[in-house]
Amino acid sequence: MKKKKIVILTGAGMSAESGIKTFRDSDGLWENYPVQQVASIEGYEENPRLVLDFYNARRKELLRTVPNHGHLKVAELENYYDVAVVTQNVDNLHERAGSSHVIHLHGELMKATSSRNPNDPACICDISPEHPEIRLGDKAADGSQLRPYIVWFGEAVPRFEDAIREAETADIFIIIGTSMQVYPAAGLIRYIRRGIPVYVIDPKVVPVSCASPVHTIAKGASEGMDELFKILLKE
Ligand code: OAD
Repeated sequence: MKKKKIVILTGAGMSAESGIKTFRDSDGLWENYPVQQVASIEGYEENPRLVLDFYNARRKELLRTVPNHGHLKVAELENYYDVAVVTQNVDNLHERAGSSHVIHLHGELMKATSSRNPNDPACICDISPEHPEIRLGDKAADGSQLRPYIVWFGEAVPRFEDAIREAETADIFIIIGTSMQVYPAAGLIRYIRRGIPVYVIDPKVVPVSCASPVHTIAKGASEGMDELFKILLKE
């Protein structure tokens, strides 16, 4: 029998229990770093060193973390469903937990690219854990300054089209640990088929509007995934 398809949209709360800070909670990253300075194309053009340092620090932090129970449960869903993970996170914790189909809407911390043509596949390269820093003067394949492969505010989100194709064919849609404030990611839910079940795992109330029944699990990612398993596997 053909497996049902689950599409999961994840945000920073998915990785919170691995020790990675969220952005908009109290003491979140955007409280301690001006978002305009470190996560916009204008900020990068104005002070590339500051931006490179910010992501170098995030990358070193990522190398010290491991996937949490929630990531592992998301990967385990593949035993029962055809699963696509659409993540706003730039960490690689879904992949390290075993998820085999992950779409990164906002880029990947362990990759670098060209400052001139950030979406040119020929310029996108892996950053090795042994040399986790990008420095001023490091060059991409096209000779321009190497930069983090991160989608900054003011830039296009090229993988959104792939995410739409997944959402359109979902039988079940799950949202984990995102405040649903950043578009186009938060708009992905508009593409699901009317009436399919939607589950939201987040300790806080998240605004989700769609023409589907929305089941809220007001818990952290790990506990919330355990609860979701009980619900799904009893169906
Ligand atoms: P936010 O920081 O806006 O939201 C994090 C969400 O995670 C909130 O709804 C929290 O309640 C929830 N949360 C906190 N702890 C949790 C836990 N243990 N388990 C589950 N949920 C938990 O982060 P995002 O919505 O991911 O983009 O932010 C979206 C984008 O804004 C990011 O990708 C980033 C940022 O600017 C870029 O940098 C381009």
